[in-house]
Amino acid sequence: MLRPWAKHRWIVSGKNVFMTTDLTPHPEHILAASSHRNPYPYYASRVAGPALVFDAPRKLWVASSAASVKAVLGNPACHVRPTAEPVPAAIIGSAAGEVFGHLVRMNEGVRHDAPKLALQRFLASVDLARVQLHTEAIAAMQMGNGPLQGAALSRWAFEVPVMAVADMLGFAEGELPQVARWMADFVACLSPVSTPAQLAASAEAASALLARFAELVRGASAHPGSALARLQHEAAQAGWHDAGALLANAVGLLSQTYEATAGLIGNSVVALATRPGLLEVMGREPGQLLQMVNEVSRFDPSVHNTRRFVAEATQVAGVSLQPGDVVLLVLAAAGRDPLCNARPNALLLDRLDRDVPGFGRGPHQCPGQALACQIAAAAIKALLVSGQLQAVSSFSWQYRPSMNARIPVFLD
Ligand code: HEM
Repeated sequence: MLRPWAKHRWIVSGKNVFMTTDLTPHPEHILAASSHRNPYPYYASRVAGPALVFDAPRKLWVASSAASVKAVLGNPACHVRPTAEPVPAAIIGSAAGEVFGHLVRMNEGVRHDAPKLALQRFLASVDLARVQLHTEAIAAMQMGNGPLQGAALSRWAFEVPVMAVADMLGFAEGELPQVARWMADFVACLSPVSTPAQLAASAEAASALLARFAELVRGASAHPGSALARLQHEAAQAGWHDAGALLANAVGLLSQTYEATAGLIGNSVVALATRPGLLEVMGREPGQLLQMVNEVSRFDPSVHNTRRFVAEATQVAGVSLQPGDVVLLVLAAAGRDPLCNARPNALLLDRLDRDVPGFGRGPHQCPGQALACQIAAAAIKALLVSGQLQAVSSFSWQYRPSMNARIPVFLD
């Protein structure tokens, strides 16, 4: 059944603004939105509503406007993990749990600050022009000879970014497909519905990755210019002296790349499939691909939500939050908040002061934004150059079931 507020949609084209009738019903609830065909009218209705809304069936507060999302992400009483469960119970004691427990993403205070500084400085020092060239080569190598469509395209979108980051970190070319397989196994443990077999495979992959990174880190001391030597240097400079945590966070660089960047590539392909004019512009001016990917990361981001767990009583936008409360931050809605980005529903390549909440905000803001966008742009360039996008307007897709991510699954 159509909800009354689902009826109208604004379409902006050049200087023209059209109102259309949108027949797509809203998602059933907020956690069904990221995999919905078009969740953005629903998000707009939430942005226009109260700053924080309690969703009783899901037992969480929901923040959707840019101001409320930023307020929660900047509030020190709102933590990245529940106090009673720093590591998910299902993976405690396994190598996957060891990695998870050390990740800067999953820690606060001293276990976050120095490692974050080191990772941030390390990622800021990455030579993006080199990453671009290597990614284009990896993307071409993984394409094979036939047309890259459907399931093969989806698989490719997952493999290329993680292989590009592994290459950047010093893995040899011949090892890259194995790293992609380990990562596919490893991330399975992050789902609350993982099976025992998936948890075992994930632990095995985590062990293998930690062991291989330990070898690479030992070898890096003989190559002071190598990426892992630079990471070790930044760690020492930041006062981060935990060798085990450094290895775990090196694995974390791969896992944080994996699904999110695959989604950014996929959503960029969707943008090209649904806007014939855009494909034409990119074909003529591939130098604009990075701008396009930057805009897609705001307009149709791959990470729609993140969460915070209230550790002590606090107030956000006049609402009292109590210890144990959970807040869902709808980053994708915030990116379409007109107070965050003017003309939010238009995909604009030359947008000035683009604000992209989809990479987070505050102390845990993503340090991999520039790298992710560069990798995605290089991957799309490889598709364009090889002619794989000629039939893009006939591609079809649905979205992978997920409560947080928006990753298209292309259909054969
Ligand atoms: C399109 C791709 C990506 C997206 C959408 C994305 C998004 C995010 C978001 C939303 C956060 C913050 C989560 C929170 O505050 O709850 C985050 C954190 C993080 N991301 Fe990314 N990310 C992407 C790619 C990458 C890449 C390529 C790397 C590095 C190789 C990376 C490394 C990290 C790290 C280390 C953190 C934790 C930062 C901290 O906790 O202080 N990300 N990312």
